[in-house]
This record gives sequence, C-alpha cells and structure tokens, in this order.
Amino acid sequence: MSEIEARLTELKTQAGDAIASAQDLDTLEQLRVQYLGKKGQLSQILRGMGKLSAEERPRIGAIANQIKETIQTQLDQSRDNLETAQLQAQLAAETLDVTMPGVSRPLGHIHPLNSIIDRVTEIFIGLGYTVAEGPEMESDYYNFEALNTPPDHPARDMQDTFYLPDGNLLRTHTSSVQIRYMEQHDPPIRVIAPGRVYRRDTVDSTHSAVFHQVELLAIDQGLTFTDLKGTLKEFVRQMFGEDLPMRFRASYFPFTEPSAEVDVQWQGKWLEVLGCGMVDPNVLKAVGYDPETYTGFAAGLGVERFAMVLHEMDDIRRLYNSDARFLKQF
Ligand code: DAH
Repeated sequence: MSEIEARLTELKTQAGDAIASAQDLDTLEQLRVQYLGKKGQLSQILRGMGKLSAEERPRIGAIANQIKETIQTQLDQSRDNLETAQLQAQLAAETLDVTMPGVSRPLGHIHPLNSIIDRVTEIFIGLGYTVAEGPEMESDYYNFEALNTPPDHPARDMQDTFYLPDGNLLRTHTSSVQIRYMEQHDPPIRVIAPGRVYRRDTVDSTHSAVFHQVELLAIDQGLTFTDLKGTLKEFVRQMFGEDLPMRFRASYFPFTEPSAEVDVQWQGKWLEVLGCGMVDPNVLKAVGYDPETYTGFAAGLGVERFAMVLHEMDDIRRLYNSDARFLKQF
C-alpha cells in the first residue's frame, strides 16, 4: 500500500470517528471544513497525487472519491440525526398541556350603584324619557335660587351645603339639572338626570357626604298630580316588583307645590326613597315658561336608598369601601 493510500485510509477512519461523536451542527460544519473543505485534509493529501505514477493515479483517485463520498454521506446522516434530535427537543420543550387548568382572573362587574342607575334609566326610557346631565360644581342660582329657594329661604337649612372659595358650591341635589335643561329646551319635556350630589352630612349607616340621585322632570300642557302618581307607581312596580308596599306622604319642597315623599316598606319599616311634586309656578317662571300654559311634575330618587331596599343592605358605607368581597355579591 502506498503511503498516500495509507494516509487516505487513516483519514477515513479519523473522519468517521469524529463525525460519529459530533454532538451539534456547528461541530459538524467544522468537521466538514476540516476534512472536505478546499484547504481541508483530503485536498492536502490529494495534492501529493502529482508524484504518483500514471497507473497509480486513477486508482488512488477512485479511492479518494469513494472516501470523499463516504465522509459526505456520514456528514449528511449525522446532520439529519442532529436536526431531528434538535426538533424533538424543541417540541418537547414547547409542549402545551391543554388539559392543565387555566389561571383564572377575577372578573370585574358593574358596581351596584351603577347597575341601579342603569335599571332606573332603562325603566324611564321605556316610559319615553331621555337622559340629561349637569355639572357637579354648581352656582347658587341653579342649585337654589331658580328652584324657588332664595338666600333667606328657611329650606336652605334642609341641606347643608359645601361652598367653594369662589362662591360656587357642590350641588346638593340633581334638581339643578331641571333648570339647566328647561333653559335649553321647550316643552313638552320628559327627562331624567342621574348623578352625584354632595352634602355636609355626618357619615353614618344611612348618610354619606357624597351620594347619588336620579332627577325626574316632565313638563307639558295639562299634566296633573295623577300623572305624577301613575308614573311613580309604574316605576316602583317595575323597580321593586308588584308586591312591595308603597305610600305617598305629603311633604314640602320649595320647588314643588304640592309636594310628597314616597316610602316603601323595608324590613318592617317605611323607608323614604324619593321626593316629588308638581313643579312650582315660580320655577317655571324662572326659565321663562308660562305657568298658565304648562304644568309639570318632578321627583328626586335616592339611589342609595334603592340599593338598601333591593339588596337588603343595612349600611350604605359598604357601597363606597371598594371591598370586592362585599361588592361582588351584587
Ligand atoms: N331635591 C330633593 C332632595 O334632594 C328631592 C326632590 C324633591 C326632587 C322633590 C324633586 C322634587 O325634583 O320634585 O331632597
């Protein structure tokens, strides 16, 4: 065996062993360059072919080709194996167990006060009303004066007001929206105005310095107290159901004449849930309506009171504490 033939055989063994023990594709590529590359070991050996005799040359050439092919085949096979192994490892690592229980996230829902406002709104929309809004920071005029409550009126003591340094105030009721709405619209009017109101009340189980009302206002020709009663009865029926006992009780508000309050039966007692009445002629005059042509009725509904009745709640402060354990019951 010629020396060159021995070196070729040696190369074949070496390459075979190296390829067999290669663990990754990079190593395999390095081996390809090392053995079969332009400056690789096989080329180096073949450079010595020039010295061979004319009969030897084709024989050695054939052997060299065969070795080259063998090494190439081994490289290809090893590459296939490594790629398959790599893919399998990746698939194993990325496996999803679709039967595993998911991470459950707590689901938010509508606050009980908002859902009551939504319900009240739905009922009145069903009765032909639309929804209006007004600012929570109000002037004395809209909150009191135009509602037939001048500065020296004793009824101002009914509501302890938060006054702002600039002379404005935080509205004590949503009745201010009545005036703003009537200023902007001509009769007939059917409108409700839900919103937040503020009073300097000492906070306890039935009082909060911030609470919610829904104002109701209807102005037309020929509206009477019977229309008011019928509307509120229908509303209470839809809101609380057929069987909840309710009563109208005579009352007083500066902006209505006559005035009444509605109580519903709650835990064996009568609970006041709204004030109402026929819009006082002075209020109509304040917005430029002729009280000889138009009459109307109005009401202010206490949203927190509705929550107490509907959810058998004995302390309204729970509504503001953002305690999810409590709120998620509703
Ligand atoms: N504004 C009154 C209050 O907050 C409630 C009220 C009573 C509103 C009679 C009205 C009404 O519109 O007609 O106590």
